[in-house]
Amino acid sequence: MTQETPDIAPATWDLPYFDHILTLLGDGDSEVIEFFGRHVHWGYWPDPTRAAGSVRNYAEAAERLTQAVLAAAKIRSGQRVLDVGCGFGGTLDLLNQRHSRLGLVGLNIDLRQLFRARAQCVLQNENRLALVAADACLLPFRDKSFDQVLCVEAVFHFSSRTKFFAEVGRVLAPGGRLTLCDFVPRFVVPWLWDFLDRRFKPMVTRLFGHNDARCTLADYRRVARSCGLRLDRRLDVTRHTMPTYRALRPLIRRIAPDPDGAEEVIRRVEFASRIGLLRYLILSFRPR
Ligand SMILES: C[S@@+](CC[C@H](N)C(=O)[O-])C[C@H]1O[C@@H](n2cnc3c(N)ncnc32)[C@H](O)[C@@H]1O
Repeated sequence: MTQETPDIAPATWDLPYFDHILTLLGDGDSEVIEFFGRHVHWGYWPDPTRAAGSVRNYAEAAERLTQAVLAAAKIRSGQRVLDVGCGFGGTLDLLNQRHSRLGLVGLNIDLRQLFRARAQCVLQNENRLALVAADACLLPFRDKSFDQVLCVEAVFHFSSRTKFFAEVGRVLAPGGRLTLCDFVPRFVVPWLWDFLDRRFKPMVTRLFGHNDARCTLADYRRVARSCGLRLDRRLDVTRHTMPTYRALRPLIRRIAPDPDGAEEVIRRVEFASRIGLLRYLILSFRPR
């Protein structure tokens, strides 16, 4: 492994919003750098009524969401930690700042993000870092090789949650833990979902690429059980993420190639979250 190149050859991907974010980061767009340069996920406001709506306030909230996931994971110094869909490495870097002697591995399907993660994560505290370009559903690691697996707002992109969980079940050591956050529907009415999908899925896919937000909590439990895992903890942080939408709207209007389409997608996710149909959950799983 060198400091310049990831450790395993890249796979293919289709993530239009990342193409766009990377272009803007490359152009030095200061607002995009502050919004998405470190984390590309929703924010967490302990008191949502006090969200300031500024870019700085959003960046702090995004950092706090990572902290909430890490608090659920209960990571300890010396552990082997895999971050699947690691984006620009913000979660890995926070771990690197907080703990020592970690064996960190960041995995992403998009090689370009790994280059940025490498540049951002300046190792300290005797931590080690490997960055791997690969698919979350085909983890190139030995059985039982991690104490912790993290997946921050990425699982909806994967081709199959069952394959991902099976892989996590394989690579987790006894006593290990998978912690993820995801948009989880309270229930799915298939005909209604299909109807909405036909109308809105092309718009969502144009922006986000492959995505699947149909996995309910019951589905998560079932998938986990079939892969030798069990749901250990769940935290509903929907309320704390709601200011995300207000903060994102002006940015999206300015930068999205199709601002109307992007705003429509964000508005629908916000509406579904506001009426309680869609929850933002932090979920933690352990081997059974
Ligand atoms: C919303 S971003 C979250 C990034 C990062 N976890 C964060 O919180 O900043 C989703 C991430 O999932 C990654 N991803 C999408 N499909 C993937 C796959 N099949 N395997 C691995 N990573 C994938 C994307 O490249 C992107 O980095």
